Amino acid sequence: MNRSVLHDYTVSDSNKANKIILSGAQQTLLITLYAKALDNRSNHSILHDKKADEIVRSIDFDFDRAQGFGSKNILVVRAKQFDEWVNEFIKSNPNGIVLNLGCGLDARVARIKPSPTVDWFDLDFPEVIEERRKFFPDGDGYHMIKSSMTEPGWIESIPKNRPTIVVADGVLEYLTEDEVRILFNRITSHFPSGQVAFDVMSSAAMKRGKKRLKDTMPGVEHKWAVDNIQNVDELDPKLKRIDVFSIFGSKYVVRLPMKERFIYRLASLVPNFKNTIRLVRYEF
Ligand SMILES: C[S@@+](CC[C@H](N)C(=O)[O-])C[C@H]1O[C@@H](n2cnc3c(N)ncnc32)[C@H](O)[C@@H]1O
Repeated sequence: MNRSVLHDYTVSDSNKANKIILSGAQQTLLITLYAKALDNRSNHSILHDKKADEIVRSIDFDFDRAQGFGSKNILVVRAKQFDEWVNEFIKSNPNGIVLNLGCGLDARVARIKPSPTVDWFDLDFPEVIEERRKFFPDGDGYHMIKSSMTEPGWIESIPKNRPTIVVADGVLEYLTEDEVRILFNRITSHFPSGQVAFDVMSSAAMKRGKKRLKDTMPGVEHKWAVDNIQNVDELDPKLKRIDVFSIFGSKYVVRLPMKERFIYRLASLVPNFKNTIRLVRYEF
């Protein structure tokens, strides 16, 4: 495996030993984590994610490498929309399940603070969950699953008799379309009902970001591009689309500074940029 050590945290008398070793797509969790930390430090914070900031401050990594993948703010807008959908779902399903696929070091569970009647599962590669355990303890309905989501077994560890919302925030781009299809089929066969919320990137956006991603994060590649949303609708007959919109049209964009708001509104009118990232939600 192409394993790149992003950083070895220096052990000193006053510091805990902390080492972060990530490879391939795992490295991208630092991009979204840093975006949330910067948002927390800004005057117009959308997420107020103190935990992300705390984690970033405890990792000795050159976070400049995690910048420049589009606007950091747009990643925060995306996270905010998914938070809203999860909140909405657990309000209507107080005994439901939340499954956050490709959770990275995201603090959604800390932002939402679900009641203990909700069971929350965060899933990522074993190496990522090892890192995660340094910051998030198990307990009170909170569980972490160490697995690639393309593996067949992990879903069996989740109760199958309760409505479930599945979130994949900045994640499915790293799978092939066939892997996404198999994943959706697994989800809709396992859970009785629920929702699946995720984002899709256009092929033009992938092309624009390809070189930067390759140069900055070795071994990382976006694979699943979506230009026609009907192609997604056809991946699983049980999934019915209830939302799709360009991230530039998100209601949370209005919370950004005027200049960025203006740029995003403009981008939403340009065909090649409009569908850079779309947020979608299905029910089953
Ligand atoms: C851009 S990061 C997003 C992390 C998190 N969702 C967030 O919003 O901060 C992509 C994440 O997807 C995870 N990922 C990619 N492919 C995966 C797979 N096959 N199985 C499990 N996790 C995967 C990576 O390890 C990484 O944590």
